[in-house]
Amino acid sequence: MCGIFAYVGNDNQSVLKAVRGLKDLEYRGYDSWGVAVKTPQGFFIRKETGKISNIPETDFEKHEGTMSIGHTRWATHGGVSAYNAHPHFNRDKSLVVVHNGIIENHDALREEIAAVFGNDVFRSETDTEVIPLLIDICMERGLSFENAFTEVCKKLHGRFAFVALHKDEPYMLAARDGSPLVMGLAEGEYFIASDTPAFLDYTNEVYFFDNGEYAKISKDAVTFFNLLSGNHVEKKKEKILWEKESASKGGHPHFMLKEILDQRELIENTVRLGGPAVSKAAQTLEKADNIFFTAMGTAAHMGMVGEYLFSRIAKKSVQAVYAAEFDKVLPFINKQSLVCGISQSGETADLLEAFKTTKKKGGKIMSVINVRGSSAERESFLSVPVNAGPERAVASTKAATAQFTILTLLAYALIGKRMQGEKKLTNASHAIKKWLTQELLIHISHIVETIKHNEDLYVIGKSVNYPIALEAALKIKEVSYIHAEGFAAGELKHGTLALIEKGTPCVVLVSNDEYKQDVLNAAQELKARGATIIGISPEAHPVFDHTIVTPDLENETPMALMISSQILAYYLATLRGLDPDKPRNLAKSVTVK
Ligand code: G6P
Repeated sequence: MCGIFAYVGNDNQSVLKAVRGLKDLEYRGYDSWGVAVKTPQGFFIRKETGKISNIPETDFEKHEGTMSIGHTRWATHGGVSAYNAHPHFNRDKSLVVVHNGIIENHDALREEIAAVFGNDVFRSETDTEVIPLLIDICMERGLSFENAFTEVCKKLHGRFAFVALHKDEPYMLAARDGSPLVMGLAEGEYFIASDTPAFLDYTNEVYFFDNGEYAKISKDAVTFFNLLSGNHVEKKKEKILWEKESASKGGHPHFMLKEILDQRELIENTVRLGGPAVSKAAQTLEKADNIFFTAMGTAAHMGMVGEYLFSRIAKKSVQAVYAAEFDKVLPFINKQSLVCGISQSGETADLLEAFKTTKKKGGKIMSVINVRGSSAERESFLSVPVNAGPERAVASTKAATAQFTILTLLAYALIGKRMQGEKKLTNASHAIKKWLTQELLIHISHIVETIKHNEDLYVIGKSVNYPIALEAALKIKEVSYIHAEGFAAGELKHGTLALIEKGTPCVVLVSNDEYKQDVLNAAQELKARGATIIGISPEAHPVFDHTIVTPDLENETPMALMISSQILAYYLATLRGLDPDKPRNLAKSVTVK
């Protein structure tokens, strides 16, 4: 939530770098944005509501300076407005701050500020604004900018990553305690951002900030310190293997479509790169007494898929639980427990909270992650990367399929059959590559034309296809704003059937498995009440009004069903005139609880 970008270097047009960096971070929040560049006359600051991607770079060219900061916002404290957008500043605008996270004690800090400066000093409703004002107070009491900065960090409760810049100081300060922050290192240039795609054009060498650290960055040097002790911290350079190209739209109108199509190569890739980590993880899973998969959103649905896969393939009992509901299983966490977090970003606040409580109770933590160096990976004693590459659309697609792949592989590895699992998944990958064509997209878009004006839609499935139904409904609602509900086929008669009217679109997910007839029966019941049935299945059935035919991949068929539903959601959004990459009110990385 919220994207931070900052630059220190030799480029006098640093503000353009900030604008471009923010465009690459927009997936983190896009209700408003702001930049500040340090010019010889003081700070040039511009803040606006709306998306920065719509703003031409020429607007900024004349504001020269080699230090800039920027921010793209997902509103938490205070509505969407230019004055609530970052950067926030102190009384005379001599220092500016961009922040990501939540300052939980901001009310108390506001009172502290009001006691010194009065109430008129506040210009926004945000929690962030307390930071520059508190630094201002400390500096007025005689502290240097750097000492004031560290003093203020110690006062903040909650989670933060923020960057501060003072007009009279040749350095920038950046701190992390809970929210992600990474520094990119190029020749004579330093980049600070919430995520690496913001500077991949310039460098792939990075330092990851750890919690409780801050950095002092000037043109020629960067030094890291521990926030509490003030001691110097030695950092290790790391290399990001992602290519900038893989974080671009690659000629497609939207990231979502590009990422759906990336799935043509994805599964094979995930299998090839994931093998060794999977074997290691399987040994740990085997020894664990009680295993929990925990995650949020799409990743939580993949956790539920994992629950079924472990039961079906490995005969191993696992409990999937939403990270935000983790307290439910807390009494059962002990030294023999293994909590496996599943997360694309590795930064989801509820997940990190679940990790924290697990650690307190002595449980082990592993993670299935996409973003290397993320908080989830850093908190885990073992992590399995899904290697889906950068995912930019808010709605997760390829990362979900990659998580599904790794969970399948883990289930096979648990029974000593990793190679067999790899073979099956690689075959599935080849079949998906052949099937995921332009013709398929056109076919699905034609089906969507017939249902795009409906405001309610239902999805049913059984066994592994039950969490896939939940995921299909989530995908549809988040990008098309259609009210969509997924449920287990068997639940149909226990309530939802009452909502079916003539023409209600119902998506029916059918694999060629032992549950096929049950699901087709449920489809009949829907049809008898007037529903329009969109069957997604390896074969057509008479009950379907429209059919999306997938390859028959046996245990892996749900992957193809899920991909079909992603395409369905994509066209439901675009044919309703919506931008599927940036759905209203949402953000990709939910770093607040
Ligand atoms: C947000 C995103 C979803 C994602 C969920 C969990 O809601 O929009 O696409 O599934 O967060 O995120 P994670 O990064 O932990 O997988």
